[in-house]
Amino acid sequence: MYLILWNAGVLGILIPQVLAMKINYDGDQVLQIIPQHKDHVVCLQHMCSSLQLDLWKPLQPEDINVRSVVHVRIPSMALQPVKEAMLHCSLSFKVLVDNLAHLIGDPEAKRSRMRRSLSDYDYTKYHPMEDIYSWINLMTEQHSDLVTQHNLGLTYETRPMHYLKISKPSSGPKKSIWMDCGIHAREWIAPAFCQWFVKEIVQNHEKDSRIKKILKNIDLYVLPVLNIDGYIYTWTTERLWRKSRSKHENGTCYGVDLNRNFNVKWCSLGSSTNCTSNLYCGESPVSEPETKAVVNFMETIKSELICFLTIHSYSQYILTAYGYSKDLPKNFNETITVASKAASELKKKHGTVYRVGSFANLLYEASGTSQDWVHDLGVQFSYTIELRDNGTYHFILPEDQIQPTCEETMAGVLTIIEYVNDKYFGNQASTKCGSLHIYTFLSAVLTTVLLT
Ligand SMILES: *[C@@H]1O[C@H](CO)[C@@H](O)[C@H](O)[C@H]1NC(C)=O
Ligand SMILES: *[C@@H]1O[C@H](CO)[C@@H](O)[C@H](O)[C@H]1NC(C)=O
Ligand SMILES: *[C@@H]1O[C@H](CO)[C@@H](O)[C@H](O)[C@H]1NC(C)=O
Ligand SMILES: *[C@@H]1O[C@H](CO)[C@@H](O)[C@H](O)[C@H]1NC(C)=O
Repeated sequence: MYLILWNAGVLGILIPQVLAMKINYDGDQVLQIIPQHKDHVVCLQHMCSSLQLDLWKPLQPEDINVRSVVHVRIPSMALQPVKEAMLHCSLSFKVLVDNLAHLIGDPEAKRSRMRRSLSDYDYTKYHPMEDIYSWINLMTEQHSDLVTQHNLGLTYETRPMHYLKISKPSSGPKKSIWMDCGIHAREWIAPAFCQWFVKEIVQNHEKDSRIKKILKNIDLYVLPVLNIDGYIYTWTTERLWRKSRSKHENGTCYGVDLNRNFNVKWCSLGSSTNCTSNLYCGESPVSEPETKAVVNFMETIKSELICFLTIHSYSQYILTAYGYSKDLPKNFNETITVASKAASELKKKHGTVYRVGSFANLLYEASGTSQDWVHDLGVQFSYTIELRDNGTYHFILPEDQIQPTCEETMAGVLTIIEYVNDKYFGNQASTKCGSLHIYTFLSAVLTTVLLT
């Protein structure tokens, strides 16, 4: 059971405690507010903290700024007082989502049952965790020459964290690329993309010369759902849950923001030590079994790891190090050039505009992120990718956008992967081209010799 405690707060509003099994969000709205001056900012910050509102953009009241967009979910019972408070501060707002319950619907009711066949798997639907577990099994059974299944560790609620290794036999030395999805539970498009990515690689590794080239040199590791406990919780109980599900303070609050729990300037910026917060950084660095599992594995493969990709939503960004500082890392120019190229390839598919930049400069400062921890481990190309959309459906991206989102993201991600491949191994396609020139040259010489 989940308990929401609404703080009466300084606004003098009295909201009763709510006890519910499954949160249905009936009548909840998502508002967009753009504060125009400092007083607006203060008023909004005050309202968000005192009412503990679920801020979506930015994630905490401290990061609200003049003339930057704010997205916030208002529970139906707080709508009236919130709107009055905004009127009082002369803040104007726009209703982005009129009734969240309508937008969310009942995904469980809509879904088609998973069948025992990979060819029936519908990549254009969101899948509950049990389907994803079966999908992992089917994928490794039916493509055992290319895909193997491994266990990274166990979640807090002791579920296995399966990841896939996509690897072709090779005699030469290889490098590795890591991709994880779903570190934040409610960002459903992320796990959908990880599955799409694996499908695309498996289906095209023989006919697509670029994928063929990459797999010659590189092993791909894919963790389809990092925060499995949280993901399941979004299906069973609370669609907009973000964190993991570990228990704190004798069960008075749950979950850690796993992307604030890594040991890199831990809990100093854009995080909270209060376990009720969506940005709770945990009791200590790497306190959570999920982050421990990732850290242990990254330590094991770090000498071969050349690129790290962590997939999120929403906002349409490709972000580079650092989150914990506005300073830029040494190789920033190169990482940003690659990201821009990826964004432009991505845009070519469906016209979707992505912005690129460093996490702290483009979004907000945040310490304890996996992207920064891995970057400081020595991995030069470490990216956070925030998928669609940029503010209409937020975390509730409709299923009809799964395919276009995955298609364009694939184009972007492959651009990054090809770049790092060519950087570490040279562009072997052009080597072939080189030998062709030599061949042409030799045959020309030979022809000349024969003719004289
Ligand atoms: C948790 O419960 C124990 C035993 O009942 C108590 O001693 C402790 O103070 C509690 N801790 C918190 C944070 O409430
Ligand atoms: C954590 O935050 C909640 C909600 O803002 C507040 O009621 C509580 O007192 C805070 N706990 C601590 C230990 O600061
Ligand atoms: C990065 O690029 C900018 C603009 O092209 C240049 O001014 C700057 O010196 C470069 N920085 C590094 C570290 O190469
Ligand atoms: C979405 O992206 C477009 C283009 O980048 C931008 O103009 C627009 O303001 C964005 N919408 C929101 C709600 O942020």
